[in-house]
Amino acid sequence: MSGDQGEKANKQTSGGEQVVTPWDVQADEGVDYDKLIVQFGSSKIDDDLVKRMERVTGQKVHHWLRKEIFFSHRDLGEMLDLYEAGKPFYLYTGRGPSSGSLHFGHLVPFVFTKWLQDAFNAPLVIQLTDDEKFLWKDLTLEEANMLAYENAKDIIAVGFDPKKTFIFSDVDYIGHMYPNILGIQKKVTLNQVRGIFGMNDSANIGQFSFPAIQAAPSFSSSFPIPLRGDDDIPCLIPCAIDQDPYFRMTRDVAPKLGFRKPALIHSKFFPALQGAQTKMSASDATSSIYLTDTAEQIRHKIKHYAVSGGGDTAEEQAANGANLEKDIPYQWLRFFLDDDAKLDQVAEEYGAGRMMTQEVKDMLGDVLIGIVAKFQADRAKVSDDVVKEFMSVRPLEF
Ligand code: TYM
Ligand code: TRP
Repeated sequence: MSGDQGEKANKQTSGGEQVVTPWDVQADEGVDYDKLIVQFGSSKIDDDLVKRMERVTGQKVHHWLRKEIFFSHRDLGEMLDLYEAGKPFYLYTGRGPSSGSLHFGHLVPFVFTKWLQDAFNAPLVIQLTDDEKFLWKDLTLEEANMLAYENAKDIIAVGFDPKKTFIFSDVDYIGHMYPNILGIQKKVTLNQVRGIFGMNDSANIGQFSFPAIQAAPSFSSSFPIPLRGDDDIPCLIPCAIDQDPYFRMTRDVAPKLGFRKPALIHSKFFPALQGAQTKMSASDATSSIYLTDTAEQIRHKIKHYAVSGGGDTAEEQAANGANLEKDIPYQWLRFFLDDDAKLDQVAEEYGAGRMMTQEVKDMLGDVLIGIVAKFQADRAKVSDDVVKEFMSVRPLEF
């Protein structure tokens, strides 16, 4: 798609190790997503599946599906079969509340989940893992729980339907899921958790048992009230591919409990400012642009930290053009500039050296500042009462 510049070929021959786990993404040459599909055993979302989604929903798919930003899945075809046969699914996604504000990378699964909710008219549950962040980070339980409620405001501002969306903090909701958590804990051994997550023996025991808690919302019986006691609703989980290990475990244990396996739809990572070797991470302020950043901060970070694939000097850029694969401003535009014609034009002109890095950075700044302005206006409308509504244990409409 975008200017390859022989990058891909180099990647293969260098044989660089890549690490993708729920808490670490490292790939010296940039993440090789085709390799990841093989490594994880998921399936590629191909053109046929995209076309099928258009037929089933009767609308154009989100541009992230067209651009292969959502690129991998497990059992998505089966989910569409069931949907067409009159058995609709619910959606499940989540967030680990480790910082007060979401960054642009977090918008990816949530914005896409909203599109799915609208396109399939699906109920949605969103897990806020304050327990996880308490166990892994230097946070008190009160702080983690408070961050969960703060993050809920950001998530609500994405535009979810209050009648169809249940957001919960693990600490507050856990009792409802506890029977399923116990069922999972009984069927998963320490060896399996170690094999999937690679924890060592000095991890605390809460960390070893946490995967059962992220697994439980994949089963509709964990929501006796929100999903009205229907214990057989299929589940579709949108997330970035770093979360897949949890759901490999979940899919493994599901039949042992007599439950359906959840289906998944995976996104690529929104890269860090410093380059596609890692994902944008909330734990690293210089890698991220937050949804609370001011216009000045956004321009400053793009100017000083965004890795460029352009030539070092105007002359070099004019002579050789930019390496689009490596160029973070261009890669970010692929995520957030929803105007194919304009994006193609940037690829063409910038790739050929007729456009300079600064112009692309300015264009990106405009796009991100526009998104943040709208987001902040929407978030300002999310009152404590609205949060209470989304987070109260109540039957959803579906
Ligand atoms: P967390 O808070 O690390 O991330 C929340 C969601 O955002 C995705 N994500 C990204 N997507 C694209 N580019 C990035 N740079 C990027 N960084 C994060 C994550 O994949 C995730 O979808 N343990 C989870 C919380 C959780 C969850 C779930 C996530 C609980 N249940 C079910 C997905 C589905 C966590 O700490 O996510
Ligand atoms: N993602 C967390 C972070 O940002 C850590 C983490 C989340 C984790 N889920 C995990 C670690 C599962 C081990 C297993 O640091």
